[in-house]
Amino acid sequence: MKMPTLSRLDLRQRIDALPRINIACIPTPMQEAHNLSNELGVRILIKREDLTGLAMGGNKVRHMDFCMADAIQKGADVSLNVNPWMSNNARIIGAASRRVGLDYINVAPASKSRPIQGNLLIQDIIGTDMHMLDTSEPSEVNEYVDKLETKLVEQGRTVYNHIKEHMSRSSATIAYMEATLEIDEQLKKFDIAGNIEMFIASGGAHGGLMLASQALTLPWTVHGVLVGKPEESYADVVTWSNNALNHLGFSERLTWGDVEQLDKYIGPGYAKPGQDCIEAIRMVAELEGVLLDPVYTGKVMAAIIDYAKDNRFTEEDTVIFMHTGGLPELFDFADELKRRDYT
Ligand SMILES: Cc1ncc(COP(=O)(O)O)c(C=O)c1O
Repeated sequence: MKMPTLSRLDLRQRIDALPRINIACIPTPMQEAHNLSNELGVRILIKREDLTGLAMGGNKVRHMDFCMADAIQKGADVSLNVNPWMSNNARIIGAASRRVGLDYINVAPASKSRPIQGNLLIQDIIGTDMHMLDTSEPSEVNEYVDKLETKLVEQGRTVYNHIKEHMSRSSATIAYMEATLEIDEQLKKFDIAGNIEMFIASGGAHGGLMLASQALTLPWTVHGVLVGKPEESYADVVTWSNNALNHLGFSERLTWGDVEQLDKYIGPGYAKPGQDCIEAIRMVAELEGVLLDPVYTGKVMAAIIDYAKDNRFTEEDTVIFMHTGGLPELFDFADELKRRDYT
């Protein structure tokens, strides 16, 4: 698939035509990581998407500008979502829903005995109606959610069901098509000689960066890093991107053949950090004072470290690490992350 060539203004106008509520604190900083660059022998810039400003931030806050506008336009008064216990999506959709005046219900499969920590704790603090289920069996979860939605409708509520509303996910692609414009502008202040090698956890945002950088003919390679096996990590880049393309009025459609997903850095599985991820988190914390998370960004940094050690970058390359947030998850993984026991 080939995106049509667009001017920056063309892309800006298509995005500006969509309903929007400004929730995200953007632009986010682009920071030079000098110590990490010295350590790895390649220039590394960190795009601080962890600093988007809502309930501990992350990439998904940008999505909410479009997703919440869609919910409001549809007259919703309650946001209904299904996400696992470690989900940043659940936290950010919750906080954005509250910000725009919606009630928030999150159904969390397989979470009955989970400690209220990390993203679950934040959902509790913002006043989420949390349904923590024993089961993760899709048919049982769906039946539970269907019944819940029916009950809400009978009570006269207008439900925005994030499982059914495509904007809940394709807003990621739209938001990161816009972020491409932001990054392109920011890079003018950095003296960039060679290629841009961008790394991000694979998902809707990955699709957005890929599509927009191609449309704007930017010399970027966007590496999408899988953080779980395809069946467990919800990185449906193709469906989410195609919904976004449709929404923005493009007739082009992505296929799986167009999408590069690096699958070497998954470790034991989704929400299971391997040793390379843990070491990546420690390295960036020690050298830069920047915290990464053990579910997404630690694995993305593990990919960058591996590429650098394998001499896969040239001297002129600039690596952009998309720090998509996920920081509340640090606290759910204390046992894996702590260096030793202190008792
Ligand atoms: C920290 C973090 N990074 C990246 C992603 C991928 O997000 P998206 O599919 O919206 O691109 C997620 C999704 O949950 C996330 O929580």
